[in-house]
Amino acid sequence: MRVAVFFLCALLSGSIAFAQTPDSGRQVFVNRCAACHGSDGNGGELGPAIATRVPALTDENLASLFRQGLPAAGMPPFPSLTDSETRELIRYLRRLRPRTGSGPSRATLTLVDGGLVSGLVLNQSALDLQLLGDDRTIHLFRKSGDRYRAVTSQADWPSYNGQTSGSRFSPLAEITTANSPG
Ligand code: HEC
Repeated sequence: MRVAVFFLCALLSGSIAFAQTPDSGRQVFVNRCAACHGSDGNGGELGPAIATRVPALTDENLASLFRQGLPAAGMPPFPSLTDSETRELIRYLRRLRPRTGSGPSRATLTLVDGGLVSGLVLNQSALDLQLLGDDRTIHLFRKSGDRYRAVTSQADWPSYNGQTSGSRFSPLAEITTANSPG
C-alpha cells in the first residue's frame, strides 16, 4: 500500500511537472512530429515544412489534424494525445518560424465596436489590412486609430480617367472640395 501511494505521488508530481514545463509542447513535437517535419518544423525527409502552413490553420483545424492525421498523404493520426498535450503542442506550433523570411502571420484584431476577429494576415499597410478569418471568409478592414473597421465602400479608379466612361468623377464622398486643401 505504501509503495502504491509512493507511485501515485510520483506519477502525480511527474504529470504536474510535465504540465507546467514551458516547453512541454516542444517535447511532444520532438517525440512525435520532428522525425518527419524536422526539429524546427522546417521539413524533413518524410514530411513537409509546416512553419509556413500552421498560420493558416485554426486551433480546431490543428486539433482535428492530430486526431485524424492525413493518412492518404503519409501523416499518421495521434488519437492518444491528451487535451493538455494538444493545447501545448498547438502553442508550440504557433511559435515555429520559417528558416528564411518572416512568413505568414496570424493576428487578432480589435474592431471599433470592441469585437475581436482572428485569422491569417494576407496583406497589410499603414491604412488597411486584409484578413483570411478563421470563419474562412476574407475580411477587408481599414485602420481606425489602433482598431479596425470593415470596409464599407469600395470605389476603384481603374484607368487614367477614372471609370471607363472617362468622367474623372469619383463617387467617394469623404474628401470634397469643402474639406480638402486644394
Ligand atoms: C510519418 C511522418 C509524419 C509524422 C510523424 C507527422 N506528420 Fe505531419 N505531415 C506529414 C505529411 C507527409 C504531411 C503533408 C501532407 C501533404 O502533402 O499536404 C503532413 C502535414 C502536416 C501539417 C500541414 C497540414 C495542412 O493542412 O497543411 C501539419 C500542421 C502537420 N503535419 C503537423 C504535424 C504534427 C504537429 C505532428 C506530430 C503530432 C505531425 N505532423 C506528425 C507527415 C508526418
